[in-house]
Amino acid sequence: AFSEAEVQRARGAWEKMYANAEDNGTTVLVRMFTEHPDTKSYFTHFKGMGTAEEMEQSDQVRSHGKRVLTTINDLVQHLDSTDAFLGIVNPLGKKHAVQLKVDPKNFRIICDIILQLMEEKYGGDCKASFEKVTNEICIRLNNAYK
Ligand code: HEM
Repeated sequence: AFSEAEVQRARGAWEKMYANAEDNGTTVLVRMFTEHPDTKSYFTHFKGMGTAEEMEQSDQVRSHGKRVLTTINDLVQHLDSTDAFLGIVNPLGKKHAVQLKVDPKNFRIICDIILQLMEEKYGGDCKASFEKVTNEICIRLNNAYK
């Protein structure tokens, strides 16, 4: 569970990242695809998955990047309610496990890229304030595979 102080800190950090949701979400996905090329195998139906420059311009990558960050934003708004948090993250985990068949090791990979980008753009304190949130998201998404 998150203390009131942790919730406020995490929200403050996340606001910076979410203010540029589409650009930051796109950067996260493009880094995942270039640093861990096996992750591209889940997105063969996306157009423009060649070079990093192409991916950055791809409407599908851009809208999916925004969608991932929008979902994290929903979770951040519900850190103070375990029921509401699980109500979002459990079905999302099931979808990735059962339907999309994503290897769950990739959740840690994308979360680490998110934290790295937060540190680069907004500083170490921003990253530190959000680590507990990404941990919680990874644990809950992994639970859907059990
Ligand atoms: C779809 C969120 C990690 C692969 C989705 C959707 C959301 C989402 C909201 C749309 C679900 C729907 O249609 O109902 C997230 C979040 C993640 C995460 C919050 C972690 C923080 C990953 C990872 C991979 C992945 C690590 C693979 C490496 C996919 C794929 C789709 C999808 C292939 C379907 C895309 C499409 O066809 O439009 N994700 N995801 N996701 N996700 Fe994730």
